[in-house]
Amino acid sequence: MLLLPPGITNAVTATVRVPMNIAFVKYWGKADERRMLPLNDSVSANLDDLYAESTIILTTDAEADGVIVNEVPMPVGEGTRFAKVFAEFRRMIAGTDHAQAKILVVSTTSFPVKAGLASSAAGFAAIAYGLGKVGELNDAQVARLARLGSGSACRSLYPGFVHWDSSKTGDEDTFVVPVESGIEFASTLFAAVFVIDNKQKTVGSSEGMKRSVQTSNFLKYRVQEVVPHHVNLIKEAVSTADFITFADVTMRESNSLHAVCLDSLPPLSYLNETSFAMINAVHDFNSTPAGVTAAYTFDAGPNAVVLAQLTNAQRLISHFSRLPWAKFVFETKDEQLKEVLNVQ
Ligand code: DP6
Repeated sequence: MLLLPPGITNAVTATVRVPMNIAFVKYWGKADERRMLPLNDSVSANLDDLYAESTIILTTDAEADGVIVNEVPMPVGEGTRFAKVFAEFRRMIAGTDHAQAKILVVSTTSFPVKAGLASSAAGFAAIAYGLGKVGELNDAQVARLARLGSGSACRSLYPGFVHWDSSKTGDEDTFVVPVESGIEFASTLFAAVFVIDNKQKTVGSSEGMKRSVQTSNFLKYRVQEVVPHHVNLIKEAVSTADFITFADVTMRESNSLHAVCLDSLPPLSYLNETSFAMINAVHDFNSTPAGVTAAYTFDAGPNAVVLAQLTNAQRLISHFSRLPWAKFVFETKDEQLKEVLNVQ
């Protein structure tokens, strides 16, 4: 049973768990900052081992809203993303019994926030999902709340591969849709996360993408030409379980995002020397007679996520554990594989 905070006796609660997602076609740039609408489509899948767990408490016993993440109280005042999400939630439940209630959130993440992995997205997805439960919201409303917290968070709400469609801009639109055979294809994959540097990034994603929108010429070409082509290719690759095309698009997408970052002024350089060594190591791994069996992808930071088919996971781990800098920290939930790899 949930232990309510001191002084709270009357409350409606929900506890939910939502994984972090990793994009294979990247979201980079907003068409509308206030409504958090993206400039381009993106495609992602969840990394089930990396999740946020949130308890949402709606109560009239508290004096103010509050959010605690991994035991640290967060600022929730005006101008914060929490305030924005809560305001929208209140708009959605106006006229119901809970309209006057304060919102308390207690979240934990299964991975250290300091590890430099995008964590706020999983956190906002869990808050949105939890608010959806206590407020009895529909899926489109939950996805919209998640997106207001952190754009990419809206992709975490569904299993398998999902497509965030940038052409859907209406408030009632369903803008995140499953990719055909996305659950089946995701279940054949293994994701290894390599924490290369656990320092906080100097320029966050929101600020970085804003700079790219304002200054990068290449971004226009990426949005108009590169991304639509990659979305078609990757959806086709997922639905036909074509790992080679999936890997090719995934690596090109990561490189395209970081090319846009370097084309921004001042340039955004999220990758470091070790990230490039990791890129080379994956291409080396793919140049053996076994062919293309792994793909890397990097978000706005130096840490790598390397994807492979489950059947190649053991070979991948032994290849990378030879590299002293490749600190492999998280792995698939697949119990059988864990036994093979002898990991916890
Ligand atoms: C590089 O969702 O963190 O990870 O919408 O401003 O909160 P905001 O940005 P965020 O951006 C993620 C960017 C990315 C690529 C991706 O996940 O698609």
